[in-house]
Amino acid sequence: MVKGPLPPLPYGRQLIEDDDIAAVVEQLKGDWLTQGPAVERFEKELSAITGAKYCVAVANGTAALHLASLAAGVGPGATGVTADITFVASANGIRYCGGEPHLVDVDADTALISIERLAEKVDALAKAGKAPKVLVPVDFGGTPADLPAVRAIADKVGAIVIEDAAHSLGATYTHQGTTYRAASGVHAQMAILSFHPVKHLTTGEGGAITTNDEALFRELMDLRTHGITKDPKKLQKNDGPWYYEQRTLGFNYRITDIQCALGTSQAKKFPRFLERRRQLARMYDQAFAAAEWAERVRPLVVPAGRESAYHLYVVRVPAAKRKELFVRLREEQIFTQVHYIPVHTQPDFREHGLSGGAFPNATAYYESCISLPLFPGMGDGDVERVLAAMRRAL
Ligand SMILES: Cc1ncc(COP(=O)(O)O)c(C=O)c1O
Repeated sequence: MVKGPLPPLPYGRQLIEDDDIAAVVEQLKGDWLTQGPAVERFEKELSAITGAKYCVAVANGTAALHLASLAAGVGPGATGVTADITFVASANGIRYCGGEPHLVDVDADTALISIERLAEKVDALAKAGKAPKVLVPVDFGGTPADLPAVRAIADKVGAIVIEDAAHSLGATYTHQGTTYRAASGVHAQMAILSFHPVKHLTTGEGGAITTNDEALFRELMDLRTHGITKDPKKLQKNDGPWYYEQRTLGFNYRITDIQCALGTSQAKKFPRFLERRRQLARMYDQAFAAAEWAERVRPLVVPAGRESAYHLYVVRVPAAKRKELFVRLREEQIFTQVHYIPVHTQPDFREHGLSGGAFPNATAYYESCISLPLFPGMGDGDVERVLAAMRRAL
């Protein structure tokens, strides 16, 4: 048998099955295309997965960050703090509201926000009369940030914690003997999720905010739809059953019923997807524990007491080898990725004076990190394929 070229192996990929397709087709035959009852069904699924009482599904994770910042009271001149290693959206949510995001360094071994640096930053901002309105810890790669520690820092200055859980649906962390779920809203007042195709479950584009706070929930619901309400308790007057009022400047950040039909179908298989991600991560872990990799490959550390949901499987390799490894793997149809370029280095952040601070760990991390393929449709043989290609390249 003639062997053809191996199929492309991306770092992440959606898994869409026949029942997902059938769910979308069924939705297309129904009465609702844009926001209708399928949105609420999807929100209930997300509440069940996270344990948070309320959920507001929106157009994407970035919109979720924007609305969460607005609901937390970020406005022109307000400050917020997030990690330097994240997708730019974590900081942009604050900027969209006219606020000023401040970036802090990450821990060298986990790439999660450094609690020491965060405490220093919040202290310095408070002393300068610019105490932050929001702290946005990022559950990078799927491992929860130290949320109880972040909350303790936030409470000192009255800041709201917005957990960026775009990577961590299904992750857990244990604090003082109790285990909590990512995006459960226990330590962070709000959490945001993303359903981009590489995430744990997909709606194409999509996002959500979870919270246990009813007032924040109601505010987010209004902001999602133009700041418009029909709630008789909130109206200044009431001309009749058609009547609505715009109370505040909101947005059209609605997600559609078509997307949510897909999301609900995906949510039902979420436990299987999560378990497969964890199995694959264990296979990589076991392989990289062998002596042959010791000096060359160091997986990101998942701190004791935390269970990663493994959105990403990141390893650090010698910085001098990283680019060559990336290119050599690509020649073998293995498409790794670099997550992320430190936010403080982005031209738009520098030009707006938002790149201040010292980021030695983020810089060293960026120079050596590479995200290996990891997605629920991967076979065991694909892990072997990645390892064999890495052996050749390194
Ligand atoms: C950490 C993080 N936050 C927020 C987002 C934004 O999500 P979305 O792409 O759904 O807007 C992403 C997207 O990749 C992300 O990785």
